[in-house]
Amino acid sequence: MNFLLIFAILTTFMTAVRAQCVNLGRVQYEWQVQQDIRMKLERKVMDLQMLLNQQPQNNEISELEQSIESLKNQPCKPVSNKDPNYLVLQNQLTELQLNVESLRSLVFLTHQNFIAVENGYKQCFNQLSLPVPSPACISTTAAPVIEEETSTSCAPLGFYTGIRKISLPGAAPFRVLCDSQIAGPGWLVIQRRYDGSVDFYRNWSEYRNGFGQLEGEFFLGLDYIYRLTNYQRHELYIYVQGFNNERFWARYDNFYIGPESEKYRIKSLGRWQGTEDRMTAHLNVDFSTYDRESRHSKLSAKYHGGYWYFKGLNLGSNLNGRYFSSDIEDIEGLHWLKITSNKISTMLIRPVGR
Ligand SMILES: *[C@@H]1O[C@H](CO)[C@@H](O)[C@H](O)[C@H]1NC(C)=O
Repeated sequence: MNFLLIFAILTTFMTAVRAQCVNLGRVQYEWQVQQDIRMKLERKVMDLQMLLNQQPQNNEISELEQSIESLKNQPCKPVSNKDPNYLVLQNQLTELQLNVESLRSLVFLTHQNFIAVENGYKQCFNQLSLPVPSPACISTTAAPVIEEETSTSCAPLGFYTGIRKISLPGAAPFRVLCDSQIAGPGWLVIQRRYDGSVDFYRNWSEYRNGFGQLEGEFFLGLDYIYRLTNYQRHELYIYVQGFNNERFWARYDNFYIGPESEKYRIKSLGRWQGTEDRMTAHLNVDFSTYDRESRHSKLSAKYHGGYWYFKGLNLGSNLNGRYFSSDIEDIEGLHWLKITSNKISTMLIRPVGR
């Protein structure tokens, strides 16, 4: 009897949590939409700026002003105002002055427009904030496993978070974690860390085949990532959260890596969008593990992980580095913007042009 009661309460609780997760997913999706608007606005500002730079108004104005001056300074033959030349000159002057005025106001208006758009953009930007995924949403142990359906990505599932089997032509179906809570619907998680329960200091074959549990922390596997991103065009989304709940995100619109024979190097990232970019520095860099260092300097050992390491890691990141349980500064740590270690890291991919 008591057991049934507890079970009922638990079920109600889980349903409520799940409903909240879905809501959070929607909010985050809206946030993404707003981000897109922000990008459009940004582009508009850039267009306006270009327009402003391109317009030779200043030259035109000074040319006109010069011609007015030269007209004014022409050797003044005494002309009577009955002289037709006088009228012609007078008209020319008036016309030129009108031109100058209209160009001036055009410059002014363009500038005003520019300021208005820029202010709108700033206001819009200030209103934006990324909702924090709650721990209940990050951990999806209760996610249903649906084995029947197969697709080549998580995209057709829309607002779904959970484990799913997908398959690519010519290969056995495999399980993936779909996520709609971090960056909108249809994403497939390729890396996830949030509590340090899984060691990411692994060898080459483990990074190739994947490790950890989809229900917890894991790395999907370079071979899967290679096959997925080469099967169709994908975007990459990176979400990082610090111990002080500082949040970072980056989105790249054309992500793919090379095959094992090319050491799974990042061959493309595409255009970046986000709070900061700590991935582009890794473009064209080979993947390294401690047993297959791509360079001589033992970078995997130095940064304690498997990643697209390069010497110095300048403007780079270390999302597969050592998991610390606080924000300490250590080059071995799971870091993104600075070398301060972070609490949460998630890498997701989604087909582009759905
Ligand atoms: C990689 O690590 C796994 C798990 O520890 C181990 O079984 C495997 O033999 C290792 N592979 C190599 C090539 O060392």
